[in-house]
Parts: sequence; C-alpha cells; structure tokens
Amino acid sequence: MMGGRVANKKVLITGAAGGLGTAMAHRLAREGAKVAVSDINLDGARALADAINADHPGSAFAFAQDVTSEEQWIAVIDAATRAMGGLSVLINNAGIGGPLAFVEQDTVENWQRQYEINLRSIMLGTKHAMPHLRDAAPASIINISSVAGLAAAPGMGAYNATKAGVWMYSKTIALEAAKMDWNVRCNSVHPVFIKTPILDPFIAMAGGDEGKAHERLARGIPLKRIGEPDDVAYCVVYLASDESKFITGTEFVIDGGMLAQ
Ligand SMILES: NC(=O)c1ccc[n+]([C@@H]2O[C@H](COP(=O)([O-])OP(=O)(O)OC[C@H]3O[C@@H](n4cnc5c(N)ncnc54)[C@H](O)[C@@H]3O)[C@@H](O)[C@H]2O)c1
Repeated sequence: MMGGRVANKKVLITGAAGGLGTAMAHRLAREGAKVAVSDINLDGARALADAINADHPGSAFAFAQDVTSEEQWIAVIDAATRAMGGLSVLINNAGIGGPLAFVEQDTVENWQRQYEINLRSIMLGTKHAMPHLRDAAPASIINISSVAGLAAAPGMGAYNATKAGVWMYSKTIALEAAKMDWNVRCNSVHPVFIKTPILDPFIAMAGGDEGKAHERLARGIPLKRIGEPDDVAYCVVYLASDESKFITGTEFVIDGGMLAQ
C-alpha cells in the first residue's frame, strides 16, 4: 500500500499477540505502516505477522520479547529498527491484570509482577527507543493504560496503581520531549472493558457464560456494552499518525461514557 494514514510509519507494538495489540497491528498495517510485533508468546506474534504479511507483504516482523527484561528491550529495539529501517512509533501495550485481592490478602509478588510488566517496562522501552524515535521524528509514544488508571475499584490495588503510574509517566515523557524539541509526542490510552482474553477471569466468574459476563461488565457503561478491540485500534492509528501532531501529554478515554458519570 502506498498511501494510508500512517504510511511510512515504523511501529513497535509490545504484547501484540493479545487482543488489543493484534487489532492495532492489523489497523496500522492497513493504513500503510510497517509493524514490529513482539510478545512473550513468540508463536502468537509470528502468527500475527504471517496474517498481516499475507495481505501486506513485507510489512510485519515478529519478535520474542519479555518487556520486564532490559536486555531484551535493547535487542528487540535494535532488531526491529533494522528490520523496518527505523522506529517512529512505540506502542507500550503489554500488560496484565492480577487476582482480585483486598489489601490484607494482596501479595508483594502480585505487586512486583504488575509493576514490572505494566509500568517499569514502559520506562525501559522509552529509554531505549528514544534515540531511534528522535532520529525518525515526527514520532509518537502510545502507552496503553486503562480507565483503572483514572478511577479505582476495590480489589484492584496493583492494577489501579500501576496503570495510574502509566498515565502520569506519559506526561513526564511528553514534557521532556517537548522541552528538548525532539518532535516526539507521548500520550496514554485508557480503555474500559474490551473483548480480549484479559477478560477470561470474568467469564470464569460467570460460570463460563461469556454473554452473561459481558452483560455484567457493561452495567456501569452508559453505552450499555463493552468495547471491541478496534475501538482502541482506531484511536491508536490516530495517535500514531501525524493527524495528532499537536497532541501530547494527554489521555484518551475509551469507555462508552463511563467516566462521564
Ligand atoms: N481488554 C481490556 O478490557 C483492557 C482494558 C483496559 C486496558 N487494557 C490494557 O490493554 C493492554 C492489552 O491488553 P489485552 O486486553 O489485549 O490483553 P491480552 O491478555 O489479550 O494481551 C496481553 C498480551 O501481553 C502479553 N504479555 C504478557 N506478559 C508479557 C511480558 N512480560 N512481556 C511481553 N508480553 C507480555 C501476553 O502474552 C498477551 O499476548 C494491557 O496493557 C491491558 O492492561 C485492556
């Protein structure tokens, strides 16, 4: 594809074998980007790259990456930059939820795991991607937080805290890059429940009944439904593109109106 809203953009997406990352990769490739898709699940990343390359030959590259490892960040950024001929968009998407636990039942291990995967990973990726993003500017960093980074819920301490950290850290990076005139923007995205495997525990809690689980999750949402991966992917395409060139240091809430209440 010659044209497209993100033609010539070179994008690295972490956790891309999962629901949201996969939707983002497909949308970005359809709009002309090259995509490096990484995941701790290499088979999943490879299957995604193969599917994209079937429609857009030579535009997707798969990498194994655990986002908690600084060494792997350095290696993947280097390999992805070489494969795509640059790096102009970093999408920090990999993330996990944890077991629901009130503070007295919560564990240090749960906090450590969520901190390393949801938050510390973003510092590592930003640190090592920044020189390449500067070289390829105009560039964009897109951090996938959650509505849970803006509004709390009982039993979700580690997720609330790490996702709130992603929200504020995105603003720090936006201001640093602006101060230095790097032409690298940074924003956070805050989805409510979206139909991906991350919701499997809620389906289990509804006795395996997916429809019932989705209906329960939709209860606090004014639009009366939960989201589709493409609801997030379209926002990401906008933030990756130069259409959003004056937008930095802010948050995009994708929640069917939930936080408006
Ligand atoms: N789906 C939702 O309802 C929802 C809502 C708000 C925010 N989010 C956020 O969106 C992002 C994507 O979530 P999703 O819904 O696609 O979930 P998902 O579980 O479908 O995908 C997450 C992906 O991250 C990968 N991953 C896990 N640990 C990793 C690690 N250490 N290194 C690299 N990859 C790792 C998994 O293999 C998986 O492919 C997450 O940050 C999540 O917190 C999701």
